[in-house]
Amino acid sequence: MISEFIDIIEQELLKGLRIESVDPHDPIEVQFLPKPWKLVGAGNYAAVLSHPDFNGLVVKVYAPGRAGLEEEVEVYRRLGKHPAYSECYHAGSPYLILRRLSGITLYNCVLRGVPIPRQVIEDIDSALDFARSKGLNPHDVHGKNVMLKDGRGVVVDVSDFLKAEPCFMWDDLKKAYGRFYSPVFIGRVKVPEWMLTAVRKGYRYFKRS
Ligand SMILES: Nc1ncnc2c1ncn2[C@@H]1O[C@H](COP(=O)(O)OP(=O)(O)O)[C@@H](O)[C@H]1O
Ligand SMILES: [Mg+2]
Repeated sequence: MISEFIDIIEQELLKGLRIESVDPHDPIEVQFLPKPWKLVGAGNYAAVLSHPDFNGLVVKVYAPGRAGLEEEVEVYRRLGKHPAYSECYHAGSPYLILRRLSGITLYNCVLRGVPIPRQVIEDIDSALDFARSKGLNPHDVHGKNVMLKDGRGVVVDVSDFLKAEPCFMWDDLKKAYGRFYSPVFIGRVKVPEWMLTAVRKGYRYFKRS
């Protein structure tokens, strides 16, 4: 199963796929995606794609010039199997095959007005504690890197967990959750995308050192 997936990634996907990291602070852009692949998500380093014949899997392809693939493999090696994280089944160049996590990012929950149960926050807290117990340093844990799945929280992106410097994104997100996501609002407000982009850019402005 994995070997067939590797074959079509290397024979079909990578030959046609065109992705570009235009600005390291913004999601990469997909210029061409061969059929029948689907874009699952775009991060600042990589595009995550799925194929209709391989249900439980995704491939994360790093954009040209974006480093960090080996570090991500090492993070998954240290995490092993854990319900709140994906797993890395294979590493190639420049891609990883990961277990697909279904769910909706917390960022999209806010966009679409989907309520975020408190359990999700607790699950992610304990997943991050687990990572620390494995000598990792949770980093870059923000709304696009965590998902809600069947009422539980999962962490989709661990690529920066080997970085040494502290990261306060998750603590800041939790504070915002406590402040704005009161039961009065839950599921009633949809926040427009331009506002979330403004918050993201403003956050980076205030946090730059
Ligand atoms: N294992 C996975 N299963 C399902 N979706 C995923 C998975 N990994 C990533 N994604 C989706 O792809 C997006 C980009 O992946 P991510 O790992 O965050 O890339 P980057 O390291 O470039 O930030 C995520 O925000 C998420 O929506
Ligand atoms: Mg990401």
